[in-house]
Amino acid sequence: MENRELIRLALEARERAYVPYSKYQVGAALLAKNGTVYQGCNIENAAYTPTNCAERTAFFKAVSEGVREFEAIAIVGGYAGEPVDYAYPCGVCRQVMMEFCEPESFRVITAISEDVYLERTLEEMLPHGFGPSKLHTED
Ligand code: THU
Repeated sequence: MENRELIRLALEARERAYVPYSKYQVGAALLAKNGTVYQGCNIENAAYTPTNCAERTAFFKAVSEGVREFEAIAIVGGYAGEPVDYAYPCGVCRQVMMEFCEPESFRVITAISEDVYLERTLEEMLPHGFGPSKLHTED
């Protein structure tokens, strides 16, 4: 899938952001290796801490559907209207990416529009990250 299309889906997801408190609308579109795209938006809460970021919404939708292999994620964010700056994933979301993605090849696309975006690997976004390979698990 083209980056443009993934960004378009992130912009579409952002329209569904539930943000009565911060008003900061984030959308994400997560491309699985099987070609399926999972959209996510941020979902806030009156108690604040239960808030879920757009990126994690997308990941948790996918993983809860049995999908665990991913290629790329597009992220857009900002206050009402068109995004004017890049919205970078928070540390918690980077750590969730680390759980399911290959740091050297998973692409993190931060976008302002379908034409204006930056692309980095997860390794660049979270250098020296702690992931599943560090633990002695049986499988
Ligand atoms: N937010 C995201 O959705 N993704 C991030 O990676 C950073 C922050 C949301 C959480 C909250 O609803 C709003 O942006 C302001 O922090």
